[in-house]
Amino acid sequence: MIYPKRILLTIVLSTTLLRSMADEGMWLPLLLGEQVYGDMVKKGLKLTKEQLYSINKASLKDAIIIFGRGCTGEIVSNDGLIFTNHHCGYDAIASSSSIEHNYLRDGFYAKSRQEEIPARGLTADFLLKIEDVTKEVEDSLKGLAGDERATRQQSVLTSINNRFTDVQKSITGRISPLFKGNQFLVFVYQRYSDIRLVGTPPESIGKFGGDTDNWEWPRHTGDFSIFRIYAGKNGEPSEYSTDDVPLKPKYFLPVSIKGLKDGDYAMIYGYPGSTNRYETSFGVKQKIDVDNPTLVKLRDIRLKYMFEEMKKDPAVKLQLASSYASIANYWKFFDGESKQLIKYGIYDQKKAQEAAFQQWAEAHTGYDHLFKDWAKAYEDWRPYSRHRVYMNEGILGSPLIAFAASLQELEYTLVKPGYGDLKKALQAAGEARKNFVKQENKPSDQHILAAITQSYYTDIDKSQQPIGFYEAIRSSYGPLQEDATYQKYAAAVFAGTFLFDDARWNAFVNRPEANLLQEDPAYKHAAAFLRNWQGKYLSFYQQFNSRNNELGRLYLKGIIEKDPKKVRYPDATFTMRVSYGNVKSYSPRDAVHYDYVTTLSGVLEKYVPGDYEFDLPPGLVEHAKKKDFGQYVDKQRNDLVVGFITTNDITGGNSGSPVLNANGELIGLAFDGNYEALSHKIAFDAQYNRTICVDIRYVLWCIDKLGGAPNIINELKLVRPVASVR
Ligand code: ARG
Repeated sequence: MIYPKRILLTIVLSTTLLRSMADEGMWLPLLLGEQVYGDMVKKGLKLTKEQLYSINKASLKDAIIIFGRGCTGEIVSNDGLIFTNHHCGYDAIASSSSIEHNYLRDGFYAKSRQEEIPARGLTADFLLKIEDVTKEVEDSLKGLAGDERATRQQSVLTSINNRFTDVQKSITGRISPLFKGNQFLVFVYQRYSDIRLVGTPPESIGKFGGDTDNWEWPRHTGDFSIFRIYAGKNGEPSEYSTDDVPLKPKYFLPVSIKGLKDGDYAMIYGYPGSTNRYETSFGVKQKIDVDNPTLVKLRDIRLKYMFEEMKKDPAVKLQLASSYASIANYWKFFDGESKQLIKYGIYDQKKAQEAAFQQWAEAHTGYDHLFKDWAKAYEDWRPYSRHRVYMNEGILGSPLIAFAASLQELEYTLVKPGYGDLKKALQAAGEARKNFVKQENKPSDQHILAAITQSYYTDIDKSQQPIGFYEAIRSSYGPLQEDATYQKYAAAVFAGTFLFDDARWNAFVNRPEANLLQEDPAYKHAAAFLRNWQGKYLSFYQQFNSRNNELGRLYLKGIIEKDPKKVRYPDATFTMRVSYGNVKSYSPRDAVHYDYVTTLSGVLEKYVPGDYEFDLPPGLVEHAKKKDFGQYVDKQRNDLVVGFITTNDITGGNSGSPVLNANGELIGLAFDGNYEALSHKIAFDAQYNRTICVDIRYVLWCIDKLGGAPNIINELKLVRPVASVR
């Protein structure tokens, strides 16, 4: 850009509407109005509206699934083949691995259907239809406010969901309140549960760059993995069975290896999890001052001790890898989010927006108190807010204590007559314990328990701490200012608890007595903090939360009333959205320009043999040096394109989403956002926001040339360049 900054700013401001129309927006495919669709076409889209979304005919939306519990996947063959991200398949890959068959480390490609590995617990949800039930919900809430309204709403939504649910067919209705509860759509899904692992690159490709490169461009990660949906003979959902056959999907995506140029149309379908673009200045301040730094501090502690053990022992690495990756992912995110919120002055931006709204509100009944009430709600809540983060990220950040805390239901069943079914509670506890023991690494957990117990003591207001708890530690283990005190205490908890010991656990299950649980040191620890929190502070949070929701609904209602013609998209709610934009380079800061693609040459530049994050698998360097790229080559560069960036508006949950060209062909998988736009959940930045994608040609090269699995390539419908064009 040759414009000096100030001039640029005025241009940006005066064209904000146009520009943000182009890139900002997570649109509901069902409700693409003419204006948005027209804009997509202007940007380059070659498809009809019917091809994007139709309930009667097969359309693009039929190839998009919810993968697992928090990701997106897409169908790429007529045999139910799924592409998604490596980090979405991570847990399934790690769980299928052992020291002898270490698929996480070495990669894996099934050469036949028989070799595909059942991934128990994984699911794929297809969206069958979307219906607007706003009127029905609103009619039944007429005249209600506050808690009464919230309770009634809950029951109305449940009954509508039930109407759309058919358990026999694995069909479920899930209502999503949009625009903070000003619109209600029901999304009807069908769930498939026989999912099998078909292929994955070694982690040194799938997570190349690790946490150092996470949330950053330029990026060189081959973040993909491959699964398949199996179904009963008639295509019906089925639990895992050897009789199941690959699903014949309604629609699957063709895959384009034609390559891309700066400025090309790019469209992303998927399931963005959550955004809060109408967050208030109060909320921004709360995040920056308390929530984010507290979370980051507590995750720092947990990650440090986990990593110490993981790097010592490959078995521990396998055991903790998935949990570590997810803690690390949002540790970096929330740290970066705060930094960008501050850098872009989002607090002041929100203040200005609120002042403008207030001016309008003065002349419109029902709104003039909005921000005063909101400020008060935050003020009342703020003194307890750090404590809440400490409970979720700290106290329950020790896996042992989290498991112990999960036994609270069991304790209540034992001590409160009529509270619940004891047999069921014991069975659930046994299941939870099995999972816990499988994932438990005692050395790291014991350190975590010690460190967090100590920092709770220093960080949480003394008046809010569980009464008597720290006095007891002092009298048995030493001064509360010393690290050694907490280490001794944690050691005693680990040595004394019966939760690890099969024989003692079984004895307890056979003769369940409340006092056995109540006197267990791990349970005692969990219960002390839980009871204190639940008994005194949880209700403040609930009050704040319901207040915040109610004011949010009012604010959005006002925003819509103030400017009813404006085309808006609702905040992300893990419902299907489409975002459209372009492949686009950018300048992250003065004098620096980022290209829109990365290449295999760049992978080699980052390569550090033996490194935890920047190592490469055997064979890659040799293949790269031979420039053996086959049909996946980028002719113009005589290189392999690895990653690219687009202006699309996505967020967590979109991971694994297909990136489509103007013809609706798959050109890449979205897997990340860039560091400069980590404030994107709260404010979309039209200049800096980029989606980071792995190029499909790199994915195919890894499968075909490195992985030696042409069988997978042969299943795809490839769209090749016309010879004379390039
Ligand atoms: N940032 C990516 C996302 O949220 C996840 C990347 C996982 N990789 C990692 N190094 N933790 O979609």
